[in-house]
Amino acid sequence: MDKLLITGGNRLSGEISVSGAKNAALPILCASLLTADTIALRNVPHLNDIGTTLRLLGQMGVSSEHHADNAMELCAAHVEKLEAPYELVKTMRASILVLGPLLARFGEARVSLPGGCAIGQRPVDQHIKGLEAMGADIRIEHGYVVAKATRLQGASIRTDMVTVTGTENLMMAATLAKGRTTLENAAREPEIVDLAELLNKMGARIKGHGTDQIIIDGVDSLHGAEHSVVPDRIEAGTFLCAVGAAGGEIMLRNAAPLTMGATLDKLIEAGMTIEHGDDWIRGMMNKRPRATGFRTSEYPGFPTDMQAQLMALNTIADGTAIIVENIFENRYMHVQELSRMGAQIDIDGHTAVVLGVGQLSGTTVMATDLRASASLVIAGLAACGDTIIERIYHLDRGYERMEEKLRSVGANIQRLKREAA
Ligand code: EPU
Repeated sequence: MDKLLITGGNRLSGEISVSGAKNAALPILCASLLTADTIALRNVPHLNDIGTTLRLLGQMGVSSEHHADNAMELCAAHVEKLEAPYELVKTMRASILVLGPLLARFGEARVSLPGGCAIGQRPVDQHIKGLEAMGADIRIEHGYVVAKATRLQGASIRTDMVTVTGTENLMMAATLAKGRTTLENAAREPEIVDLAELLNKMGARIKGHGTDQIIIDGVDSLHGAEHSVVPDRIEAGTFLCAVGAAGGEIMLRNAAPLTMGATLDKLIEAGMTIEHGDDWIRGMMNKRPRATGFRTSEYPGFPTDMQAQLMALNTIADGTAIIVENIFENRYMHVQELSRMGAQIDIDGHTAVVLGVGQLSGTTVMATDLRASASLVIAGLAACGDTIIERIYHLDRGYERMEEKLRSVGANIQRLKREAA
């Protein structure tokens, strides 16, 4: 397994181009199942999770063609297998996103239940409840969700909690249902807006995306479309936290600052200077960060996907930060690893109390999930000495060429390939 070797202490300086958002691209790839026509996409990041999704779609019969500059085309004209097998779903929970489109277009789907994961239980009961409300017959058989429907019917659905992929699955399913579907308590994340925009280009009739009530008037069929994936707000936020911790000045190009309000506010509170235009962000830090507490919540609140990275920044801040993780019950796996680098963090249930220390010291740590890995990279950049991060396959799932991008702004970071590691 590859490892990362980071020698901390370098200030960061230069420009980074932000990639397309993983969490927008994943549902968008699955939306290709809704039509027999070609979907042409731009700004699709090269990530392992994207590769897994393309493998999953490929097994079903969806053809995909890559072009230069992160562009690609998908065509689901010849779908033969309406199944997402355990082997793929267990490596990537977002595979559940094929359930709604398959059921809506083909009236049938067999999708493995994902099981638990490193950050919490993450059930998919709300996806199932919503599809049942739309008339689907759903059984759990041998660990699989087995769903059937002659044609889905529009329904009024209120999810028990705000769920991102749940909203996406139900929104996709509703595009081809008969009649009107109303999703109450819908997620408002920018990735949902991006998906809805693609679906509308395909002929869907969706309104209210970006609010907590999405209304979808079903149509008989959808057609091909072109779309560029929204910039990754979490990748951009991760690089800004890196500058906040290591010091320096970076310019992020192809960014979407208007989707990053809560993150940018917290970084300013931590002492960073942030400037931005419509599609760029400049982040500067020339002093020790100030402790900055926060609570994660659904968009537009502070994203759980930035919790670990802002915690890393807080480990070396002046003061004590109280952090509350409200979305996932087990998303503090990075705490023990940060502690091995000298961080002082106490956990009590969903609350973490981070007492900033003058400096972290490099050591060998282990990545446990995607955003935990990112927090260890940030800690490593700010620490004195060498940090070796093991199991970085987690990082490769969701960050495109992270070490290359960081090296281009002066970080001393290298990948130790399995042979050399
Ligand atoms: N939940 C249920 N039942 C459901 C669905 C969700 O109990 O049927 C619970 C979850 O267990 C969790 C909460 O509701 O406690 C919210 O989960 P949500 O469904 O919103 O999460 P998700 O859709 O599985 C997406 C992102 C995650 C991100 C969360 C929250 C994708 C592919 N994944 O997951 O991204 O953390 O929303 O914003 O969009 C990441 O990129 O590192 C990542 C984990």
